[in-house]
Amino acid sequence: MSAVTPLMSVTVTVNGRGRTLTVEPRTTLLEALREHFGLTGTKKACDRGECGACTVHVDGRRVLSCMALAAMQDGKQITTIEGLARDGVLHPMQAAFIEHDGFQCGFCTPGQIMSAVAAVEEAKAGSPSAATDDLTKSFSLADLSRAEIRERMSGNLCRCACYPNIVAAVAEAAGRS
Ligand code: FES
Ligand code: FES
Repeated sequence: MSAVTPLMSVTVTVNGRGRTLTVEPRTTLLEALREHFGLTGTKKACDRGECGACTVHVDGRRVLSCMALAAMQDGKQITTIEGLARDGVLHPMQAAFIEHDGFQCGFCTPGQIMSAVAAVEEAKAGSPSAATDDLTKSFSLADLSRAEIRERMSGNLCRCACYPNIVAAVAEAAGRS
């Protein structure tokens, strides 16, 4: 007798739009976005939390969607790369990546941009990183050096090695160029 996998109903807001889907408990958020909602901007690369290509925002925080179960996102606000532009106007981070040639093949780029947007917000909120020298004072955007950007973006790999241009793009979008 074969076991029947129970299905779960999940209601989320994706890029400002309420969506409900029925998934197996093992379905990842990445699979739900790409295969249930057709939002293929979020990329599957390593599928095991090592490359950052699948980065999205959940309730405003960056999350590796290959490592998150869809069933655990009930009630959450999810933003993907498709939801970053507003009324046809690119997000400043998207514009900065174009300006600085922050990509070649582009496969890692959605994850890079989603991660970069969140990284700048984390810096604005005063979060230090492993590269922060002085932990006795609160972090500010003025402290967001190139070394800080490299550390905060270190979870996003680029096989085309566009790192210098990515760092320049993040610095410009953060007003630190
Ligand atoms: Fe998720 Fe690589 S695909 S971290
Ligand atoms: Fe090709 Fe990053 S632009 S992997």
